[in-house]
Amino acid sequence: MPDLRAPLDRVRAVLDEAGYTVDGVRGLLGPVAGGALARDEIVPALRATGGGSPLEALTRLFWLQVPLDAAEPSAHVLPVDALVKAGLAEVSGGEVRALLHVEPLEVPGVPRSPGVPASGGGDGHVGYVVSDLKVRPGSGGVVPSDHVVGAGGASGNLAQLVIHKAVDNILDLGTGCGVQAVHLAARNPAARITATDVNPRALELSAMSLALSGVDGVELLEGSLLEPVQRRRFDLIVSNPPFVVAPPGEDGRRFTYRESGLPGDDFCRRLVTEAPALLNDGGHLQMLANWLHVEGVPWDERVGAWAEESACETWVVQRDVQDPAEYAELWLRDSCEAGTPEYRARYEAWLDHFERWKVTGIGFGWITLRRSAADRPAVRVEEIRHAVEQPVGAYADHVLDGLAVAERFSTACGKSVLRTSPGIVQEQIGEPGAEDPERIVLRQSGRLRRAAGVGTVEAALAGVCDGTLPLAPLLDAIAQLTGMDPDQVRAHAFTVLPELIADGFFEMP
Ligand SMILES: C[S@@+](CC[C@H](N)C(=O)[O-])C[C@H]1O[C@@H](n2cnc3c(N)ncnc32)[C@H](O)[C@@H]1O
Repeated sequence: MPDLRAPLDRVRAVLDEAGYTVDGVRGLLGPVAGGALARDEIVPALRATGGGSPLEALTRLFWLQVPLDAAEPSAHVLPVDALVKAGLAEVSGGEVRALLHVEPLEVPGVPRSPGVPASGGGDGHVGYVVSDLKVRPGSGGVVPSDHVVGAGGASGNLAQLVIHKAVDNILDLGTGCGVQAVHLAARNPAARITATDVNPRALELSAMSLALSGVDGVELLEGSLLEPVQRRRFDLIVSNPPFVVAPPGEDGRRFTYRESGLPGDDFCRRLVTEAPALLNDGGHLQMLANWLHVEGVPWDERVGAWAEESACETWVVQRDVQDPAEYAELWLRDSCEAGTPEYRARYEAWLDHFERWKVTGIGFGWITLRRSAADRPAVRVEEIRHAVEQPVGAYADHVLDGLAVAERFSTACGKSVLRTSPGIVQEQIGEPGAEDPERIVLRQSGRLRRAAGVGTVEAALAGVCDGTLPLAPLLDAIAQLTGMDPDQVRAHAFTVLPELIADGFFEMP
């Protein structure tokens, strides 16, 4: 690959100066054109970007992916020669056309990358991501198997999940366009980051993303799964893996950006069970995954078995489930196969594949593992479909801490000191004017936004646990105040507290 550093540096300066950021483009388009674009309607966006400023020209070329007339002033506000030298655009037939997709990357709450100047954008602007155009020039309208996908919803999900803790050694497995590596470099400027991918084209484009974002020193390695980093140790491994469970394509062809070629959900299982060996003590693996719901086997037991094998503290959250037909349609649309003459045969191939595996549904979710020395690391596999507070990474470690404390909690914990977690509110439901409520609910106003129906004892504890007095005297005082039997109050509290701690209503200071 030619040395693209100098032209990419020049392009970066232009992107920064033009304010080509998520905020900048949003502001330029405004809500109407932005809304239309979300519905795949480009006309209002073209009208909003006709003024000929560098931001308008960049937005047209790279965001809307429409060619610029090389004779028009709008093309001259950009350093077309540098765009061409960097491999980002070409000039042909009197037009400047994008060859690659260049998008600004924003991760709210993350400090800007060392290379991104203050003029380069709003809060959370961390750099730029280079990926393939959906329809690559010269590909005949077909998505090539080495297609490199841009930063999508799943990339954002993973970026939000990543723990907010400074770490030294990071692995981004299946880096693709480099979106996670760019984000992680901004979050951990001093860390040593390694990014791997099986697709050499992905490594080329991630190198361009890193250069355009002003990030130096990320090690890029080609290879499958953990093979390129076998003898290394990491504090954090992140992966938005090729999790799509698809039937083999014609001649074994597959879309590398989303399919691993391993049977079923084996790629995700192997990551969960094999990556922990590469984690330092206390190190995390955080990934997105798909898992199969197989007839006769509860999904949480299947995924729970992966967690048990990992021997790590584990938190798995199922965020969505699709039936086989919904899933096949989604991914056939994604690879532009909908509407083609082969569509019906391909759709049937997906359904046959799922029937053969006795698949009733496909779950999507997040997995967080933390390597621990505990004999019996806590494992929680659960479904949360409602909106939770973002970013989850700000409190993912608290969730794991809560699971670990709950696992150790026993009747011998009378001397323990607990604290009601921040953001807990109490709701009382009952007849107006009634002396006692019919129902008391503790509700988390933030984090996972859970709610728990509780009794008088737990409600009273939530009112007094401030992290200063041990549980035993607090429970005795509650018994005295309510006129209940002290032994019964203690027995009840020790029965219900582990679940309330695991759910994050109480924590150990
Ligand atoms: C869904 S993309 C993720 C891209 C990017 N990390 C993100 O968060 O958007 C999955 C990536 O995994 C890579 N991949 C596919 N098979 C792989 C394998 N066996 N080992 C490592 N990476 C693989 C693909 O080339 C692709 O870049």
